[in-house]
Amino acid sequence: RQATDSPLYALLKAAADFYRQALKSHPQRRAAVEYLKGRGLSGEIARDFGLGFAPPGWDNLLKHLAGDSLQHKAMIDAGLLVENADSGKRYDRFRDRVIFPIHDSRGRVIAFGGRVLGDDKPKYLNSPETPVFHKGQELYGLYEARKHNRNLDEIMVVEGYMDVIALAQQGLRNAVATLGTATSEEHLKRLFRLVPSVLFCFDGDQAGRNAAWRALEAALPNLQDGRRARFLFLPEGEDPDTLVRSEGTDAFQARIHQHAQPLADYFFQQLSEEADPRSLEGKAHLVTLAAPLIDKIPGNTLRALMRQRLTQITGLDASTMGQTQAAPTRQP
Ligand code: UTP
Ligand code: MN
Ligand code: MN
Ligand code: MN
Ligand code: MN
Repeated sequence: RQATDSPLYALLKAAADFYRQALKSHPQRRAAVEYLKGRGLSGEIARDFGLGFAPPGWDNLLKHLAGDSLQHKAMIDAGLLVENADSGKRYDRFRDRVIFPIHDSRGRVIAFGGRVLGDDKPKYLNSPETPVFHKGQELYGLYEARKHNRNLDEIMVVEGYMDVIALAQQGLRNAVATLGTATSEEHLKRLFRLVPSVLFCFDGDQAGRNAAWRALEAALPNLQDGRRARFLFLPEGEDPDTLVRSEGTDAFQARIHQHAQPLADYFFQQLSEEADPRSLEGKAHLVTLAAPLIDKIPGNTLRALMRQRLTQITGLDASTMGQTQAAPTRQP
C-alpha cells in the first residue's frame, strides 16, 4: 500500500534531523523551547518524540538539504517544499513552527505536523498526502507507544499531537492520535491487531462528541468477541492535554476507571436521545437506527447481547425486529 523503498524516506529523515538539531542549537530556537516548556514538556519527552523546530524564514531546510532540481522535486514530493504555481519558486512548507515528526510502524519518518508558537492560523500544518504518507491510515504516537511497551493492553485514541505527548509526559504512554481526520475502520483494524481494547478520549466539545460517534461506527465492524471499545467523555472545554496536566496522572486514571463507558452503554444512551423509547414511535425509530448498526458487529456473542438489550428497551423480540428491518427492501 505504500512505496516501501522510496527515496523519500532518506529526505524525510534528513529533514527530521535538521528540525531536531534546530530545536537544540538554532539561534532563534528560544521561543520554541519556551513554548514547549510552557506546555509542561521536559527535554526527555521532547527527545522521545523527536520534536523539532522549523526556524523562521523561507529556505532554511531548502538550503540545508541543498541539492539540484531533481532533488528539489523529491523534496516537493515528500511534502517538505512547496512550489508556487505561478512563479515556480520553491520554499519550505514548515516555517517558524514546533515540529512533530510522524513515524510509521517501523519507525521511519513519513510526515510532519507543525504548530505555530502563538495564535496564528492555521494552528497546525500537516504534510500533504505523499507516496509514503496516507493520513487516513496513520496514527500519531503509535510507533512511540509500541517502542515503550510491546505488550499494551489498551490503546487510547485522542485528537491531537499535544494530547499524545502530554499524556506521555504524565506517564500514560499508550495514546495515539488520528491526524486531523476521523477515526476510520482502517485505523481500528490496525489497533485491534495490537491490543484487545481501545479507549476513545476526544475533546470535551461538540466536535469531540461528533468524533466519538464516528469512532463508534468505525469500531462496530471490528468488534470480534473478546475485543472491546470504550469511551471517556471529558468535561466541556477540556482535552486530554489540559485535563491530565491540571488533575495529574492518578486522578486521570481514576477518571478512566470510573467513567470510561462501554461501547454498548454509549450506543444505547446516544440513540435513546435521538429516538425516545418512552413512546411506541420512538421505540420503532430506535429499532430502525440501532438494528442495522448492531448487525455490523462480527462478534456473535456481542451482537446477540446487543440485540437482546434492544429487545429489553423496546419490548420487541429479535425475530420481529428482523422482519421490521427487511420490510423496506421488499417494497417496490
Ligand atoms: P485541536 O483543535 O483539538 O487542537 O486539534 P488543540 O487541542 O486546540 O491544539 P493545542 O492544544 O492548542 O495545541 C486536534 C488535532 O487536529 C489537527 C491536529 O492534528 C491537532 O493535533 N488539526 C487541528 C489540524 O490538522 N489543523 C488545525 O489547524 C487544527
Ligand atoms: Mn479538538
Ligand atoms: Mn482547538
Ligand atoms: Mn484539543
Ligand atoms: Mn489541546
